Amino acid sequence: MIRLGLNIDHVATLRQARYRHESDSAHAEPDPVPLALLAEKAGAKGITVHLREDRRHIQDHDVRRLRKQIKTVLNLEMAVTPAMVAYALKLKPEEACLVPENRQEITTEGGLDLLGSERRVANAVARLVKGGIVPSLFIDPDPGQIDAAARIGAPCIELHTGAYANARTAAAIRRELERQWAAAEQAHALGLQVNAGHGLHYRNLAPFIETVPHLHTLNIGHSIVARAVEVGMAAAVKEIVAILKAKAQVKAKARK
Ligand code: PXP
Repeated sequence: MIRLGLNIDHVATLRQARYRHESDSAHAEPDPVPLALLAEKAGAKGITVHLREDRRHIQDHDVRRLRKQIKTVLNLEMAVTPAMVAYALKLKPEEACLVPENRQEITTEGGLDLLGSERRVANAVARLVKGGIVPSLFIDPDPGQIDAAARIGAPCIELHTGAYANARTAAAIRRELERQWAAAEQAHALGLQVNAGHGLHYRNLAPFIETVPHLHTLNIGHSIVARAVEVGMAAAVKEIVAILKAKAQVKAKARK
C-alpha cells in the first residue's frame, strides 16, 4: 500500500500565529508533537517537517522532540545548504528531502532545478547517504530533472504535484496526470524510489493514485491539518489512509 507521510508544519503555523516568541512554553498551542503521535496511531507511516531558514513554522525544539518521540520515520525537508546538511547529520532523520527554499514564498513553490546545481546537490546527497540518511530530491515531473536525479546518485525523488493540484480544467488535469505518469515510469526505470506531494487533498488523491504508478510515499500536509480542525487529527488521517487502502484493495483484486 502507498504510505502516507504527514507534513506537520501547518500545526506549527497555527501556533506561531499567536506564540511567535514563546513557542516552547507549556501553553503554546497547538503542539505539533502530540498531533504527530496521534497521526502515527491513525495510520501515518512517517512525519515530515520543513525546518525553514526563517523558522516561520517548525522550530528547532519541535524537530528535536519529534526525533525523540515519533515511532515511524522522520523526513526532514531541508534547503541544500552546508548548514542544513550539518544539521541533518547531527539530527539523523531516517530521510531528508532536499527542496528549494525562497524566503518570499508561502510554501515550497517549485521543484529543485538540478540542471543548474548538479554538483552542489550531488555533494549534499553523498554526505547524507554517508551519514545513514536516505535523501530524496523534490523535483518537477520533468524528464531532464529525473535524468539528473539519477546521475546525481539520489536513491529517491519526490515528484512535485503542485501543477496537478492547481489544474482546473479537465484537459489540464489530464495533461498533468500524464506528466506525472510519465515521470514516475521514467524514475522507476532508472531505479529511483518515487514519492510525491504538494497540494494533494481528499478530492484529487484518488485520480492521482489511480493514474500514477510506482508510488512509495505521498507527503501530504495542508489538507490533512485543515481537515483535522474540523474532525480531529486521527479522523483526518484515517480518511486519507482509507483512500490509499481502497486503491491497494483494487490492485490486490486485479492480481488474483
Ligand atoms: N512535499 C514537499 C516537498 C513540500 O514542500 C510540501 C509543502 O510543505 C509538501 C510535500 C506538502 O504539501 P501540502 O501541504 O500542500 O500537502
